Amino acid sequence: MDLIEPAERLIRARRATRAFRPAEVPESAMRAVFALAGSAPSNSNTQPWHVEVASGATRDRLADALVAAHHAGRRSVDFPYREDLFRGRQQIRRSQFGAQLYEALGIPRAETDLLEGYNVESLRFYGAPHVAMLFGPANTEARVAADIGIYAQTLLLALTAYGVASCPQALLSFYADTVREVLGVTDRKLLLGISFGYADEDAAVNAVRTPRADLAETTRFHR
Ligand SMILES: Cc1cc2nc3c(=O)[nH]c(=O)nc-3n(C[C@H](O)[C@H](O)[C@H](O)COP(=O)(O)O)c2cc1C
Repeated sequence: MDLIEPAERLIRARRATRAFRPAEVPESAMRAVFALAGSAPSNSNTQPWHVEVASGATRDRLADALVAAHHAGRRSVDFPYREDLFRGRQQIRRSQFGAQLYEALGIPRAETDLLEGYNVESLRFYGAPHVAMLFGPANTEARVAADIGIYAQTLLLALTAYGVASCPQALLSFYADTVREVLGVTDRKLLLGISFGYADEDAAVNAVRTPRADLAETTRFHR
């Protein structure tokens, strides 16, 4: 079985989508996608991920609660995030990406009102009709978080294979207590939210194409 060509197409077709149409993904397709994502590898096959998928009224309640928590400044983060997390080349790439994104959105950097509107749009899952919240066990540390990251990419690729667009959003994990409360989750840590649905192909923000570093910059081959 030659998988090179389909793998190239699948992996390169996935990208972060930041404007969605309201149409829902059929439940049968969602079940197939999440079953496929569950084939991700993990340390000693521990499969530490726990996934809560919100659609319909629950999705709307979650979006409202996230926006309310944001306006009230009620952040709660299970995995510490600091502005100086990214340094050197990573910080350069991060600011280049920010410039690219805000240009596509037509938001000049200093326009705090517009930026605020965009943050709220992010907390409303960019209009996506579904969001998947990825949790780990209460004692999740770096190695377990890596397993959940691998699950996340497997899920993103499974969604792509089924023609479903997505956006992984660390921002959603900044309101972990709110997410737990709305979804009735206790004793689990929230790593990441993934909004998904069908892309609004007309939205300028969805035309953003992110570059990648050359192979030689990230990878050395030894023998
Ligand atoms: C762990 C993780 C967290 C992310 N958090 C956000 C986020 O909070 N908001 C957002 O709009 N995009 C977020 N992204 C999407 C990245 O910006 C995007 O993957 C990156 O710029 C590369 O672009 P591409 O996904 O289109 O290839 C996140 C991606 C990952 C993997």
